[in-house]
Amino acid sequence: MSPVSDRKNISVPAEETEKQKEYSQLVREIIGQRYAEPPKAFVHTYGCQGNVADGERLEGMLEEMGYRLVNELDGADLVLYNTCAIREHAEDRVFGNVGAFKQQKTVNRDMRILLCGCMMQQEWVVEKIKKSYPFVDIVFGTHVMHRLPEFLYTSLSRGKKVREFPEHDGVIVEELPIHRDSDFKAWVPIMYGCNNFCTYCIVPYVRGRERSREPKAIIAEVKQLVAQGYKEITLLGQNVNSYGKNPDYGMNFAALLRELNAIEGDFIIRFMTSHPKDCTYELLDTMAACKKVAKHLHLPFQSGSNRVLGEMNRRYTREKYLDLLHYAYSVMPELSVTSDVIVGFPGETYEEFLETVSLVEEAKFTSMYTFIFSPRNGTKAAQMPDPVSREEKGKWFKELLDAQEKIAAVRTASMVGKTYRVLCESVSKGGLIEGRTQGNIIIEFPAETSVIGSFRDVKVTESLTWILRGELQ
Ligand code: SAH
Ligand code: SF4
Ligand code: F3S
Repeated sequence: MSPVSDRKNISVPAEETEKQKEYSQLVREIIGQRYAEPPKAFVHTYGCQGNVADGERLEGMLEEMGYRLVNELDGADLVLYNTCAIREHAEDRVFGNVGAFKQQKTVNRDMRILLCGCMMQQEWVVEKIKKSYPFVDIVFGTHVMHRLPEFLYTSLSRGKKVREFPEHDGVIVEELPIHRDSDFKAWVPIMYGCNNFCTYCIVPYVRGRERSREPKAIIAEVKQLVAQGYKEITLLGQNVNSYGKNPDYGMNFAALLRELNAIEGDFIIRFMTSHPKDCTYELLDTMAACKKVAKHLHLPFQSGSNRVLGEMNRRYTREKYLDLLHYAYSVMPELSVTSDVIVGFPGETYEEFLETVSLVEEAKFTSMYTFIFSPRNGTKAAQMPDPVSREEKGKWFKELLDAQEKIAAVRTASMVGKTYRVLCESVSKGGLIEGRTQGNIIIEFPAETSVIGSFRDVKVTESLTWILRGELQ
């Protein structure tokens, strides 16, 4: 256990959270005077589940200040984009969307446009906004999200622009108001930031150093969610396998899982993302032993070539990765593994790419997120020579998808005739109920909408490569 003083360093002081509550109240008063009915706020989050979890807190803060959350942009009094910087495409979409507001701002001067999240933690982005999108009212980075009430107060009371994206390393803020998007599936961040500095990745630069939440705060949150009837709890972190190291709480991720598994109630626990370098047999044994932990492992491998893995600074080998998978399948025969992979890392040759294909064939993933390398400003990989054309990388990408499609089809076909316990989630486009197996595979079946939010046994009748069809038992 680390000394208490260590922990204080990462927690926002109580005076700061109190101050934000006061700002929140002041904003409430201003909008109470300005609007006859609660103004409408449209929040859109890009990127990973961690960002989605932040988005739910931003929505919670806005609600507390008196805004009404809406799902459509048209007619909104406040628009907040919670952005992602992981690939160029994600950033381009944000610039495109913000550009479209220029005209609207001239019609509705009282409208507030806010940008936050990972993109805003980059100097060049904020410079570009100042130059090309000066009408944006508030820009704030990832380390000051909890100060949204203060920023809105500055903007609403004095019409002043806000640009706040301090470099200082992240903090943990407990007890922010929250607006959860679902009443049966909940995101629970267990750690923030990342220390790994994979050479292609922007996350450590925009999210700061790795820091874990206190076990007792996580356990209390999960207990509360279960008491409220939540059925699926997803623990979030960029590298959940290093949970509890910074600061040292004397509890690693496997131990945290055991604690959460012991909470009474009918619910399942998921987690993401696992980093192979920190994934241990202890964790896999714990997954196998804990009844409430879904038998699904998201374990990004990124490349099947040891040379490329070295250049990526991933700190494991292809052999170590496959060994982990073999062990995992041996203790959990029903395990479903999903993964992330990057095609066309700078300097990757076609032969090295084929090693990725062969790993995919051996690993038998249920599904895979495949990305073409996207150079990120300030990362090491962005400086590396990258001779292979985008067009060529596109061909490799397609080749990999074809290989994975065949594997996924075999896997889903092997599920036909079996019955799975499914969490019913929504209505599909075709009017069927859509649920997910523990392995995170979507299954559609005819049923009443009243099943949504509950676990049901569903027998698989048909496989459609990536998803399943079935019938209620
Ligand atoms: N922390 C997780 C990944 C988070 S980012 C992990 O280490 O596995 C999600 C995925 O985006 C990564 O797994 C990687 O496959 C992809 N990614 C990250 N940076 C990228 C880049 N510059 N270009 C292309 N894909 C990238
Ligand atoms: Fe990025 Fe690597 Fe950290 Fe994942 S582990 S967030 S890929 S630096
Ligand atoms: Fe994107 Fe930031 Fe997540 S860069 S992937 S939103 S941590």
